[in-house]
Amino acid sequence: MVLALRYSRDVTNRGTDRPTDGTRLEDGDEVGRVIVSEADLQARIAELGAAITADYAGRPPLLVGVLKGAFMFMSDLSRAIALPSEVDFMAVSSYGSATRTSGVVRIVKDLDVDLVDRHVLVVEDIVDSGLTLNYLQRYLLAREPASLEVCALLVKEGQQRTAVDLRYVGFTIPADFVIGYGLDVAERYRNLSAIHAYEGPKA
Ligand code: IMP
Ligand code: MG
Repeated sequence: MVLALRYSRDVTNRGTDRPTDGTRLEDGDEVGRVIVSEADLQARIAELGAAITADYAGRPPLLVGVLKGAFMFMSDLSRAIALPSEVDFMAVSSYGSATRTSGVVRIVKDLDVDLVDRHVLVVEDIVDSGLTLNYLQRYLLAREPASLEVCALLVKEGQQRTAVDLRYVGFTIPADFVIGYGLDVAERYRNLSAIHAYEGPKA
């Protein structure tokens, strides 16, 4: 019973009152300042969900999350959309260094469902060069959805090297590498609740 109490949800102080062994993830050497706080993320996601709910009334969306980075955003965004909807996931990996994409995208996991006549809304974590999304948009359009739009949580200011059509954007942020809320560096830090600057050595 003590455990149940200790681990129960404390919504007044999320992110700072988690049971730990004394070492907070947020305090690691590589975890820099907060770029987008947990409260700001949640408030903006509620707004995005309301906008999507209004825009897709009568046209149930198929939310397509791009793994792994979008897993947390998809989880929160899907619950902010008050419409019948479906979710599916793709996993892509782009060749390149840990902090730079090459634009050559490999589909690691494809969708399970047919897109023909579906209203597809791609849920993406972050748009940097835009090369990954540009590739995905062309790949998905070839499957003849009724509509195809993108909801990106983050867009890095001034970095886009190709045209990307973004219907919904959470935040425009400076071009520095960021971690947290699904975003990783070498698979780490995805479980931070806020978006932080990455202070480690750039790979
Ligand atoms: P793009 O093709 O350059 O637009 O890069 C898009 C992908 O690279 C995203 O979906 C992320 O997976 C990854 N990425 C880009 N910038 C960051 C970052 O600052 N932190 C973590 N991942 C990033
Ligand atoms: Mg990534």
